[in-house]
Amino acid sequence: MFTYGKPLNFQRWLDDHKDLLKPPVGNQQVWKDADFLVTVVGGPNFRTDFHDDPMEEFFYQFKGNAYLNIMDRGQLERLELEEGAIFLLPPHLRHSPQRPDPESRCLVIERQRPQGTIDGFEWYCLNCNGLVHRVEVQLKNIVTDLPPLFDVFYANENLRKCPQCGQVHPGKAAIDAMARGEKS
Ligand SMILES: [Fe+2]
Repeated sequence: MFTYGKPLNFQRWLDDHKDLLKPPVGNQQVWKDADFLVTVVGGPNFRTDFHDDPMEEFFYQFKGNAYLNIMDRGQLERLELEEGAIFLLPPHLRHSPQRPDPESRCLVIERQRPQGTIDGFEWYCLNCNGLVHRVEVQLKNIVTDLPPLFDVFYANENLRKCPQCGQVHPGKAAIDAMARGEKS
């Protein structure tokens, strides 16, 4: 025998967690200690890192619009996640979700990473699209493990200097620029 919970009313869950689905938290995991990491992500949220997930990710943009910046073989692309869109992201496709709409909601499903299955977080040069920095991590908590990694990058200008062209990645300032609607 195994134990299991009861089905949740999703709308009620959203209402109960609406204060967490906005800054500064911005996301919430529905079930703890499960193999499926089911989270709801709100807005507004911008990020500079590109995630290299060793496993698939499922997106259901059920309210409002968002988009994914994709870095694929040196090309920056923008994938619209319009309201109602579902999307299956293949493993290792570098992606950076951007959620300008404060009212937007996306259901994201990832999987627990088996021991030895490593995630990467990368930053690309805003001038030449070259890889500026990459960190690798055995991810245990997709909510709390990331901010400390990002802070290390933001705090160190040497890590932010592009080895290809020498331009310094603006780090956190790039997030503010995106929030103002400027191209990054
Ligand atoms: Fe560069």
